[in-house]
Amino acid sequence: MSVTLKTEEDIAGMRVAGRLASELLDFLTPLIVTGVTTREIDSAAHDYMVNVQKTTPATLNYAPPGHTPYPASLCTSVNHVVCHGIPGEKKLKDGDIINVDVTVIKDGYHGDSSRMFCIGKPSIQARRLVEITYEAMWRGIRAVRAGAHLGDIGSAIQRFAEGHGFSVVREFCGHGIGTRFHEDPQVLHYGRPGTGLKLQAGMIFTVEPMMNAGRAAIRSLADGWTIVTADHSLSAQWEHTVLVTETGYEVLTQSAGTPPPPPISD
Ligand code: MF3
Ligand code: CO
Ligand code: CO
Repeated sequence: MSVTLKTEEDIAGMRVAGRLASELLDFLTPLIVTGVTTREIDSAAHDYMVNVQKTTPATLNYAPPGHTPYPASLCTSVNHVVCHGIPGEKKLKDGDIINVDVTVIKDGYHGDSSRMFCIGKPSIQARRLVEITYEAMWRGIRAVRAGAHLGDIGSAIQRFAEGHGFSVVREFCGHGIGTRFHEDPQVLHYGRPGTGLKLQAGMIFTVEPMMNAGRAAIRSLADGWTIVTADHSLSAQWEHTVLVTETGYEVLTQSAGTPPPPPISD
């Protein structure tokens, strides 16, 4: 596989798909409260995609090699679940942190974004993990411009995360995205500046760091999808889909409810 440069037509399609993914998260936000089951969030998302947006849930029956088809229209990863949590009957409770990750397909183009939500009042450490992971994603995004290297993104994320005592999950990474869900390149959330693929205007990929409060090691559950921290420590993740431009980047997964970028001083 190789990295594709998107045409103006592709970019226009990706802007629409990105906005729709973000609008879906906006729609779900008021539902993500104490007492709701993750299945209820999934079914609300499915109906909104299919009936309101006329988008297709990219994750439903998604079956990359070696995997059984993913059974839901989004991923809900609560507390020590790192990613790919399958919605179910468990109710959200006060103090939980949850990542909701959505991918919509519109006119063949994919928009992929995730946000963290705090249920009630999580511990100070949990809220800090959520905030530091958010800023880590943004530090990675800010490293994006034509001529920069993928390692600049990974390094910015890793330095910030580890500087705050958190660990970066190694087994999952950001990815090129377009008419396919997961394309080249792999966007690692760790690395060294000046290394890796050189970015060119017209590339589109996700930045989606996963960070753990404890050790970086993960385990997968018997359902074939759910990934948890090996030490059961809390994990957080945020995700945007980003276009490389000559002078920087354009975040494609934006809408009225997108959280603003954090203030970054250095
Ligand atoms: N949305 C995830 C990503 O950011 C992929 C989920 S695949 C699934 O790449 F099958 F687990 F849903
Ligand atoms: Co993604
Ligand atoms: Co995603």
